[in-house]
Order: sequence, then structure tokens, then C-alpha cells
Amino acid sequence: MVKNLFASQIYQAKIMKSKTDLLELSREIYKIRDIDLVGQKWSKKNYVTGYTSYGSMDQLQQFSSSFSDLNQMLKPHLKTFLKSLGFKISVNQLQLNSMWTNIMSQGSHHSFHIHPLSVISGTFYVQVPKGSAAIQFEDPRHGLMMASPPRDGVFHSLVPTAGDVVLFESWMRHQVPAQTVKQDRISVSFNYDWR
Ligand code: NI
Repeated sequence: MVKNLFASQIYQAKIMKSKTDLLELSREIYKIRDIDLVGQKWSKKNYVTGYTSYGSMDQLQQFSSSFSDLNQMLKPHLKTFLKSLGFKISVNQLQLNSMWTNIMSQGSHHSFHIHPLSVISGTFYVQVPKGSAAIQFEDPRHGLMMASPPRDGVFHSLVPTAGDVVLFESWMRHQVPAQTVKQDRISVSFNYDWR
């Protein structure tokens, strides 16, 4: 008999179905990019060919109601995920620490990283053209493996669609390989901390 222990969990749900709402949000994100000169400069160095407000405007929940509404919409999903993970805290003990937006144009990528000091991180997908880059998660045991032969399943690629949210524990390493299609992939990422 084989037992599966300590499984990792990734949460995915469709939280916005209206194409009009998604389109409006994408327009707002392009406007943010256009006014955010500091972010454009930051992105030129750190997010080549794309734009992210990570280095300049990472408190979007305070910037406009579209993003504070998103925070509210996430609450029931965070609650479900916390329960599923077995955390002994309530959703009210999670605090949105930061929320920023990403426009991945053709050629931009985001290499493997974690989100230190947060509990739950995630991304909401606003625009995901056909053929867009996936989000790829790494088996968290990977760094502990010694003398291991190659095997399948070390990386898991998840392809979201527009309107989806993906939540994961903040220590889980992930990357987004290069966007190869011409149209932009647009998302909003966030970190929730334990307060
Ligand atoms: Ni990330």
C-alpha cells in the first residue's frame, strides 16, 4: 500500500464571469500603466518587455474601488482555502499586504520566486489570450531531494482563463515562462499576511 502524505494545495476558481467587467478592468490597468512613469522605468529593468506596478504602485486596493472590490470578492475563496489547508486562523486574521498589476507582453517572463513573509499569495487573471504562458509551480520537496533520478511531476503548469483566481501558499516557488503570443497577458497579484 502507498500513502500520499503532505500534499500541496493550489486553489483555482472563476470569480468574474462578465466579459464587460474584465474588459473594463483591463482598460483601467492600461491607464495605470500609462500614468505610472516610475513603474515603467522599474519594469524596463526588472520586467523586460512588460509592465508591472510591483515596484511603484503595490497598494492598488487603496488606489481604486476595482481593486478594493477584488479584495472583497476574494474573501470567501480565502476562507475556503484556509480551511482546506488546515490553518487555525479565520479569514479576518488575514490582511491584504499588497496588490499590484502585471502586463506581460510578448517576450516577458517572471522567473522562479516565492513571496516571503506572507501566508497566501495569488493572482487574478484579467486577460489571458489563447496560447498565453502558464503559471508553473515547483514541487516544494525539490530542494531537499538528494541523489534523485529524474522523474515526472517536479513542475506543474496551470493554465488559467480570464476571470480565474489562483491561490497558493506564499512559500511555494513558481514562475511564469515567457509570453510567446502577441497579445498581452494581464493579471493582478496580491499577498495576504497574518495579522
Ligand atoms: Ni509570484
